Amino acid sequence: MNLFETIIRTMIPGEVQAPPDFFRQALVRSGYFKLRTKLAAHGMKIPDADLYRPLFSPWEGERSFEKDYRVVKDHTLCSRDRCYILKMTLCQATLSEGDVFECGVFRGGTALLEAMTLDANSSAKVEKKLHLFDSFQGMPNSMRGVDRIKAGDLGATSVEHVAALLKDFPFAEIHTGFIPQTFSNLQVNKICWAHIDVDIYQSVRDCIQYIYPKLTPGGMMIFDDYGFPSCPGARRAVDEAFAGLPEVPICLPTGQCLVIKCRF
Ligand SMILES: C[S@@+](CC[C@H](N)C(=O)[O-])C[C@H]1O[C@@H](n2cnc3c(N)ncnc32)[C@H](O)[C@@H]1O
Repeated sequence: MNLFETIIRTMIPGEVQAPPDFFRQALVRSGYFKLRTKLAAHGMKIPDADLYRPLFSPWEGERSFEKDYRVVKDHTLCSRDRCYILKMTLCQATLSEGDVFECGVFRGGTALLEAMTLDANSSAKVEKKLHLFDSFQGMPNSMRGVDRIKAGDLGATSVEHVAALLKDFPFAEIHTGFIPQTFSNLQVNKICWAHIDVDIYQSVRDCIQYIYPKLTPGGMMIFDDYGFPSCPGARRAVDEAFAGLPEVPICLPTGQCLVIKCRF
């Protein structure tokens, strides 16, 4: 690693988050959005008017989401809007057949959100398993010139920590080790939803290769890192994989990318 790279990596670490939008927060606190919503509604009553910022943004405090987000927020790198997308897409995907996957668990925050979402659904928590994959020793080797994140990054976690976090959810199964080896002895034929949060080219590629053929019609894959400048390899892996497939990867304003398996 050269000096320039070392400085940049120190100033902007691999676990990059979108910076908090101070200007937006100031507008919220000043009551600007509330007033604007009232005026734009021309006197009509708007439910949850305080969640219009300026558009309806339920991830900013809608009651049932907020209750879950408060529990997971200190255990995840994913921002509240990304967690909202995870929860809502998972709710829909549970209508399709198959298990639920998360590749890239780190300290277990989004895994816990997924477990809570399944637990709230009386048939899903009986019929589905939540499979969680991570090395719990940080990233594997990445590709020079393709990935920014390096081997060993994100190693500050442990399987014991995640197991303790998920102890109340018997349908959750942790697979410790590196992908794709941890896929090799699995007895899973159908997957309805997968959160791929593994940051680098080869890991994302390996996940798509295993999961896509098992994804049931209407099932979904959410790629966390697709739009992040810290993870150019993740986007490349998705774009390459779906270039020859009927599904159209949908890039979301959150930085995530959503793929919905075709029904034909
Ligand atoms: C960004 S973190 C996941 C964040 C997590 N979803 C959360 O809620 O904060 C990425 C994780 O992917 C894991 N990872 C990346 N490639 C992997 C591979 N090939 N095998 C196993 N784990 C991998 C890393 O160990 C790391 O913990």
